[in-house]
Amino acid sequence: MAKFRIVVVDDQYSARRDLYKNIFSGDADFSVIDCEEWSDFCKLKFSEYDAIILDVNLDDWGVTISDAFARIGSRCPVWLASLRWNQTLTHSHISAALSGAKDVVLAGTIALENLAFPSWEDHAFGIRSQLRIVISRMRHRGLLDLDFDDSIKILHLSDPQYGDPGQDDLAFLAEQEVANFIQNELDVNIHFIVITGDVTFSGQPHEFDLAIERLQKLASRLLPNREDWRERILMVPGNHDVDFSLAAADWIEFSIGSPGTIKPKSRSSGLGHLRYGLQCFRDFAWKLSNNPNWRDADDLIWMNDSFRHLGVRFIMLNSVASVGFDSPKNYMINSDVLSRMVEESPRDESLFGIAISHHGPSVDGNSSGEDLNNWAQIRKSFQQRKIKLLLHGHGHRRIADIVPLSKKGRYRAANGQLEAGEVMRVMAPTTHLDETMRSEGDSRGFNLLTLSRHHGKVESVQVDSYELSDDHPHFADGSPWKVRII
Ligand SMILES: [Fe+2]
Repeated sequence: MAKFRIVVVDDQYSARRDLYKNIFSGDADFSVIDCEEWSDFCKLKFSEYDAIILDVNLDDWGVTISDAFARIGSRCPVWLASLRWNQTLTHSHISAALSGAKDVVLAGTIALENLAFPSWEDHAFGIRSQLRIVISRMRHRGLLDLDFDDSIKILHLSDPQYGDPGQDDLAFLAEQEVANFIQNELDVNIHFIVITGDVTFSGQPHEFDLAIERLQKLASRLLPNREDWRERILMVPGNHDVDFSLAAADWIEFSIGSPGTIKPKSRSSGLGHLRYGLQCFRDFAWKLSNNPNWRDADDLIWMNDSFRHLGVRFIMLNSVASVGFDSPKNYMINSDVLSRMVEESPRDESLFGIAISHHGPSVDGNSSGEDLNNWAQIRKSFQQRKIKLLLHGHGHRRIADIVPLSKKGRYRAANGQLEAGEVMRVMAPTTHLDETMRSEGDSRGFNLLTLSRHHGKVESVQVDSYELSDDHPHFADGSPWKVRII
C-alpha cells in the first residue's frame, strides 16, 4: 500500500505521460492516478487523496484552473504544473485564479520541462521530497512508520484519578510496574498510549502537575528516544477532570469591593463559563501531547488522522462537555457535534475507526445512569462513520464485548467476527484506585491491544487485560479477547 495518493490532472496527459512518470519513477511510496477527462476529475473524492498535481492550462477541456479550484477547495493540497513557465503570463494567470479561490491550499509548483533534462532525476527527487514534507505537515501525519504487516500495539490506561484519597496503597509504583512488565517480560514495542479519562480526582492544577510527572515517566520508558512520543499519547477528559468551581461560575454573583461579596444565583447567567471547567485538562493535555487541538477545538472533539498512513483513524470524543455542578451526570455528546463529525472531511471509509471516550454504552443495554445518555444518537453516528472499536473507562472494571449499533441488535461476547452494524467495546479498569472504588471483584490493571494488520489493513483486534495487585502482573479472568474485523 502506497503512503501517498496523488492525482494528476492534465488535459494533455497522454503527451506528457513520461514527464509525470519521471517524478515518481521507482518510488513505491507514491500511487498515482490521472484524469483522462474533465468528467473523471469531477467524480473524484478529493479528500481521499494527499495531493493534486494540476496543469495550469486546461484549455483542451474547455475549462480553467478556476473551475478546478472551485471543486477542490481546501479538501486537498494542490501543486500547479506547467510545461512552459512564463514569469509574467503564467504567474498572472495563477494569481488571478487564486484571488477567487481563497480556500485553495497551493503547496508548490512543478516545472515539467525540468523533467525532460538529463538531470531529471535530481528534479524528480526534489519534487518527491517536497511532496512528502508538505503532505505530512498538512495532514498532520505522525512520524510513526510501520511495515504494512506489522501489528499496532496500544497500551490502554484509565481512571488513575491522581490526587484521589482513594488511591490503592500499592499504586504508588503503578507506572513503573506497568513499564517494567511490558519491557522486561512481554518485550513488546508500544506504539500508542491511550488514557480514557479521569486522569485526576477533581480537575485541580496540582493534580494535573502530578499526572504530568507520572505519565511522562511512563511514556519516556515505553516510547524511548522517539521525537514523536508526545503525539502518540491519546487521551480524553472524564467527569473527574472537570473543575466544578470553574464550571459553576455562571451560578455565582460576584461583587467587587472591600471586601467583595459572592452569592449564589438561583439560575445560571448563561455566560458560557461551563467550558472553563475543562481548562486545566486542556492545559495538561496540550503539555503532555503537544496536540494543538487541545487549545483550539471548541468542544474537544476531533478526528485524529495523523496515523491514517497506518490505516487507522482515532476519533477523540469528549463526553463531559455538558457536565456541571447542576448536571454532574450529563454524560453525552451534543447532536450538533455528532452531525459535524459525520459530515467532516476527510472521508476515507477504508480507515479503521477507533473512538476514544471516557463514558461508553451500558453493559447489557439497560442504562445505569453512568453511561452515555444519548447512546442512540452516538451509535447512529458510529454506524455512519463505520467506527469499529470504542475504547473507554469510567466503570473501574474491565469489559470487552460487542455492542450493537441498532436497537434490534444484541450484545454479545467479544469473539468471532465483528459484523456490520456492530462495534467492539473495550473498557479498561482503573490503574490506581483501591477496592472500595472498583466494581466488585475487579482488580486494578491495564489493557494491551494488538491490532493485527495485513497489507496495511486492520484484520483483528486482540485485548490482553492484565491485573495489578500485590502479586506479579498477570492475565485477568476472561482475557484475552479476540475479534476478527475482516
Ligand atoms: Fe468517570
